[in-house]
Amino acid sequence: MSSQDKIKQLIDLREKAKLGGGEQRIESQHEKGKLTARERLEILLDEGSFEEYDMFVTHRCHDYGLEKQEYLSDGVVTGHGTIDGRVVYVFSQDFTVFGGSLSETFAQKICKIMDQALQVGAPVIGINDSGGARIQEGVRSLAGYAEIFERNIRASGVIPQISAVFGPCAGGAVYSPALTDFIVMSENTSYMFVTGPKVTKTVTGERISTEDLGGAEVHATRSGVAHLVAENEEEGLLMIRKLLSYLPQNNVEEPPVGEITDPIDRTEDALNDIVPEDPNKPYDILDVIHLLADGGEFMEIQSRYAKNIVTGFAKMGGIPVGIVANQPNVLAGVLDINASRKAARFVRCCDAFNIPLFTLVDVPGFLPGSAQEYGGIIIHGAKLMFAYGEATVPKVTVTLRKSYGGAHDVMSSKQLRGDINYAWPSAEIAVMGPRGAIEILESKKLAGIEKPEDLQKFIDEKENEYREKFANPYQAAKYGYIDDVIEPRNTRFRVIRALKTLANKKDMLPPKKHSNIPL
Ligand code: HXC
Repeated sequence: MSSQDKIKQLIDLREKAKLGGGEQRIESQHEKGKLTARERLEILLDEGSFEEYDMFVTHRCHDYGLEKQEYLSDGVVTGHGTIDGRVVYVFSQDFTVFGGSLSETFAQKICKIMDQALQVGAPVIGINDSGGARIQEGVRSLAGYAEIFERNIRASGVIPQISAVFGPCAGGAVYSPALTDFIVMSENTSYMFVTGPKVTKTVTGERISTEDLGGAEVHATRSGVAHLVAENEEEGLLMIRKLLSYLPQNNVEEPPVGEITDPIDRTEDALNDIVPEDPNKPYDILDVIHLLADGGEFMEIQSRYAKNIVTGFAKMGGIPVGIVANQPNVLAGVLDINASRKAARFVRCCDAFNIPLFTLVDVPGFLPGSAQEYGGIIIHGAKLMFAYGEATVPKVTVTLRKSYGGAHDVMSSKQLRGDINYAWPSAEIAVMGPRGAIEILESKKLAGIEKPEDLQKFIDEKENEYREKFANPYQAAKYGYIDDVIEPRNTRFRVIRALKTLANKKDMLPPKKHSNIPL
């Protein structure tokens, strides 16, 4: 073969590999509203930056006639590229080849890029669209999954791992995304479940559709499995690019500080009036966040799950921060099981990747009731406390209004090694709200008052008395639990200055194998 022929052979092989399972299957993929594995990478990565590995890999299976069906790349496209000029490793499952099912060699390709990403200290982004274990390969496929899981675990907290789910992701296959830091799903075309509708019906008798069992909507609102949900794949891929702009390449790097596009000393008069006079009146904490963040930009994570707490990323004076904020608009911002789990996971993610935590507090306490107690609010609430207490990143906290009881301690309080704790003049930091306190402290007197109008008058008087005495920031400030009471309009400047001051913070936990967080 002449050298020209050899080059032609290479070009032909590349073209063949790019066709995956063939034109017909690519068409069928498009008909389902889905992109192909390679089209997805084109959107995800900087133009022309993708370098593919293992294009010529094929499976080694000789069962069920598979030896007669070989596709270059074997159903997964792997390699590296850049996003905003920073290196990322990627794998993109190709549904057009055996339904994106995972074979031994398919798993080896993924493991290869994961190993290199860990050595290089670069994020891994996995795009999932697969029928699960390649049935013809039996246990080799299961072993392949376990090889990937093991690497997901090893890389956890070292390099960011992001999973996109843009098609089926079922059975044990769900556990690789579940082990990663973020899961992005697309509406209508993606689903995730451990057991599909057919088996569910056989085992439990429950009839349920694929979408209702594991669609993006379900995982965004009910299970909390999906961190981000996009209307379509393109939007999902752009979300991943954006998400990476807040994350460092690895756990020994700092997150990327961007240009200062918004004056750091921008004051916001609207903040002075944003907290309603009536302590029981709700307001939207997102309005506060948008006023504080650079350019009003906030990337909310798990926005439709446990909406009583808000988590997400923003930049403050160019510095990426993880924001955790109680949401008075939903359940008065109370902490319950789901909110505690959601925020705890987020706090740990920020801490693992050196992202400072900015906490906005307006919390009336933990949600009471048997449902919460039986569901283990004790353990789940402890997760959030543990996460904050263990976090060594800079922690800046602003208490806007209520900060009551155990929830006060949990929400990045001074004693959980909060670094800089501010309060607005509207803050109420106390053991409990005035009403609850009066009912306990004055129970005998309350029982002795017969006329309802007298009772109300007595309660109002006592509540005012209590509010004057305890429900303000100055009791806490008196003991140094609050570093300063600040005018709301100056919050942006004060928080940015706090973050800059803390930029070189060094804090260490005692040496240990690992902590025993109440999981
Ligand atoms: C081999 C598979 C496959 C698989 C799909 N295909 N899944 N081949 N192993 N797991 C092939 C099909 O034979 C078909 O080949 C092509 O992929 C497309 O599949 P269709 O069924 O035509 O597509 P669609 O109608 O869109 O349905 C997609 C699907 C369905 C819902 C994913 O294919 C399906 O239910 N597949 C099996 C899912 C499953 O049970 N997997 C094993 C789970 S157990 P042709 O040649 O016709 O194009 C598991 C354990 C992991 O994953 C454990 C880890 C610990």
